[in-house]
Amino acid sequence: MDKLIVSGGRRLQGEVRISGAKNAALPVLIASLLTDKPLQIGNIPHLHDITTTMELLGQLGVHLQIDEKMAIEADASDVQQYRAPYELVKTMRASILVLGPLLARFGRAEVSMPGGCAIGSRPVNLHIKGFEAMGAEVTIEGGYIKAKADRLRGTRIVMDMISVTGTENLMMAATLAQGTTVIENAAREPEVVDLARCLARMGAQIDGAGTDTITIDGIDSLGGATHEVIADRIEAGTYLVAGAVTGGNVKVRNVDSHLLDAVLVKLEEAGADLTVNDSSIHLRMDDRRPLAVNVRTAPFPAFPTDMQAQFVMLNSIAEGTGTVTETVFENRFMHVHELQRMGANVEMRGNTAVITGVEKLRGAPVMATDLRASACLALAGLVADADTVIDRIYHIDRGYDCIEEKLAQLGARIRRVPGHMLEKQLAVM
Ligand code: EPZ
Repeated sequence: MDKLIVSGGRRLQGEVRISGAKNAALPVLIASLLTDKPLQIGNIPHLHDITTTMELLGQLGVHLQIDEKMAIEADASDVQQYRAPYELVKTMRASILVLGPLLARFGRAEVSMPGGCAIGSRPVNLHIKGFEAMGAEVTIEGGYIKAKADRLRGTRIVMDMISVTGTENLMMAATLAQGTTVIENAAREPEVVDLARCLARMGAQIDGAGTDTITIDGIDSLGGATHEVIADRIEAGTYLVAGAVTGGNVKVRNVDSHLLDAVLVKLEEAGADLTVNDSSIHLRMDDRRPLAVNVRTAPFPAFPTDMQAQFVMLNSIAEGTGTVTETVFENRFMHVHELQRMGANVEMRGNTAVITGVEKLRGAPVMATDLRASACLALAGLVADADTVIDRIYHIDRGYDCIEEKLAQLGARIRRVPGHMLEKQLAVM
């Protein structure tokens, strides 16, 4: 298995272009199932999860063409399969998003239960409850969700918890339902808004995306469209934290800075000097060590859970003591054990990490456990006094487009080494 070797001690300087958002691209690609006309999607990031999604859509019968600029044309006019197999769903939980479109357009769907993952049990009860409220008959057989409906009926759905893919799944299904659907306590994430924008281009009648109440007037069919997915706010935030923890000077381009407000507030509290334009953010630390901050994750527009690990890492080398409280997922602190092995001073109190910063971390062999935790370990390697070797980096490849190239562009010393080459590589370092 490949590993990443990160050598510390460099201040990051320079700028990087932010790629398209994974969590916008996945639902938009899957929305192609809602129509028999081609959907053209641009600004697709080069990620393993995109490959998995294309494989899943291909298995359902969607014709996919991809060009050199990573734009994809998805044509679902020939779909005859309605089953998302366990082998694919277990590698990418977002596969659950095919349930709504298949049910809405074909009246049937069989999707493997995604199962839990490192950060939590990740139930999908809210998705299922919503489809049943719309008149679908849903059973769980042999680890598969089996759903069928002659035609979904519009209705009012109050989500018990704010769920990003739950909102997206039900919103997509509602576009072809009979009548009007109102989703209350809907997720407000920018990726939900981007999906709604794409669906509207396909002819869907959607109002209120981005607020906690989304109203969808169902119609008989959707058309094709051309859509460019938004930039990845979490990727942008990750590179800004990389600049902050190395005392550097980093500019992220091609990202809507308004999508990161809660993160920018915390970076300023940490002592960063920020210049924010509509599509770029420039962070300057000018060799300063960051100040510890207190963070509490919650649904958008509050501080994003996908930036939590990165801020635990920032606090681990900051001046003072900071707290990080995770309220979205029940088990999203695996990176703490790995950071402690690098010398971080972290005390866990329930769902709050209390972190007292140290001057430097110690390089060590560490293991990535989930997508954002693995990014945090790469950042930790940037400020460690020896090499950090990160194992299980397939997690990173799921959500970060060319992370070692982009970090190297900023001056980091980082390289990917095939597992069996590692001994030789370390010997010469
Ligand atoms: C989306 O996951 C993102 N994934 C996650 O990003 C992100 O961390 C998460 O939203 C929160 O922002 C994609 O968009 C593909 P939820 P999702 O449903 O939709 C509970 C990354 O790093 N819940 O908003 O699966 C759930 O257990 C990934 O890119 C239920 O109880 O998250 C959690 O505690 C990680 N029942 C909370 O709600 C349900 O039916 C929020 O989960 C659904 C969710």
